[in-house]
Amino acid sequence: MKGNIVVGQSGGPTAVINSSVAGVYVAAKQLGVKKVYGMVHGIQGFLADNLCDLDEYLDNETGVELLKRTPSAFLGSCRFKMPKIEGNEEVYEKVFEIMEKHDIECLFYAGGNDSMDTVKMLSDYAAAHNKPQRFMGVPKTIDNDLPITDHCPGYGSAAKYIATSLKEVIRDNSSFGVEKPTILIAEIMGRNAGWLAAAAALAKDVDCEGVDAVYLPERTFDMDAFMAKVKDLAERKSSVVIAVSEGIKLSDGRYVCELASEGDVAVDAFGHKQMSGTAAYLAQAVAAETGLKTRAIEFSTLQRAATHLASLTDINEAFQVGHDAVIAAEEGKTGMMITLDRNGNDPYQCGTSVYDIHAIANVERTVPDEWITEDGCGLNEGYEKYARPLIMGELQPLFVNGTPRHLVRK
Ligand code: F6P
Repeated sequence: MKGNIVVGQSGGPTAVINSSVAGVYVAAKQLGVKKVYGMVHGIQGFLADNLCDLDEYLDNETGVELLKRTPSAFLGSCRFKMPKIEGNEEVYEKVFEIMEKHDIECLFYAGGNDSMDTVKMLSDYAAAHNKPQRFMGVPKTIDNDLPITDHCPGYGSAAKYIATSLKEVIRDNSSFGVEKPTILIAEIMGRNAGWLAAAAALAKDVDCEGVDAVYLPERTFDMDAFMAKVKDLAERKSSVVIAVSEGIKLSDGRYVCELASEGDVAVDAFGHKQMSGTAAYLAQAVAAETGLKTRAIEFSTLQRAATHLASLTDINEAFQVGHDAVIAAEEGKTGMMITLDRNGNDPYQCGTSVYDIHAIANVERTVPDEWITEDGCGLNEGYEKYARPLIMGELQPLFVNGTPRHLVRK
């Protein structure tokens, strides 16, 4: 590659999105790229010419290793939707102007469905206007809902955190030997896809009885059936732990979390409703109906920021997709995203390839029906086989004064 490159991060952070930046940086340096710029706050920051030079942080012995152990988006993120091209050409021209100013040949963007829309729009504009710059998507999302790729970097680590935390919570909730159980409801992110909530099923193992039910957005949520299930469990058990996805919906199309909020729910630039409060709402409803003690846990950003418990498989794959995006760009590819392609489970093996961004941007992939149990409140061995390899392995944090050390942008 003759020119420089730029890498950006976009959308909800993950525990391993920085490993993808590390992968881009390492591959680019191996190829002799002079400058690897970072977009400060994604494409939104880029449009304001807000860049940093990654050499300042990574061109030393510890930089890359620290970056891999740093949660959230080191470069800063954004939720910025590129406007439609027609009538907004000046926004697109601005991107190319800044690329030219810094001699940037290729732009790498790590993100989920919405961020892949940015890659699509920019590569479409380049193609329509004969611009030589290239654009590559680097997959990431705890939601695991990008199509084509077997799974998304970020998912394995969030799933490991969910399974681990639920194992711990199940031990806690079952420690009181009283006649009436505490009903604990845990809310898990993932928007309209139940992939991450499904990871609650991974809590079950030789040393843990597992959660009692998992409610996914792939199934319509029925309040009466839910209440009947809770009552039945409460009669038979001394501890009840239920996982719910933040995206569960009623038959009228409303999210359960909308019942919890008074007035309109906030939406982001892509029109996604802000989801929160499902577990609290359900816990309150159960308490009111049964008189039982209830507790609501919302894992919230903890589940996507827990780099101290990241899956090593996930860290390595996040690095790999960043690395391979640079190799693909070097080969002249543009308007594509790197995908993870599973080659086997025993032993688990996964490679990468590239795929046309048009088939990926804005498409949400949900949990396949055949992995959801007949009662709609659990996952079967098909899911277990798929997900368990993704949470394997650990990377020891580097500690400072008793807490994991992070790399922070100046
Ligand atoms: O897309 C990732 C995600 O973490 C979703 O699971 C969640 O609904 C959303 O982001 C939350 O976004 P924000 O942090 O912008 O509220």
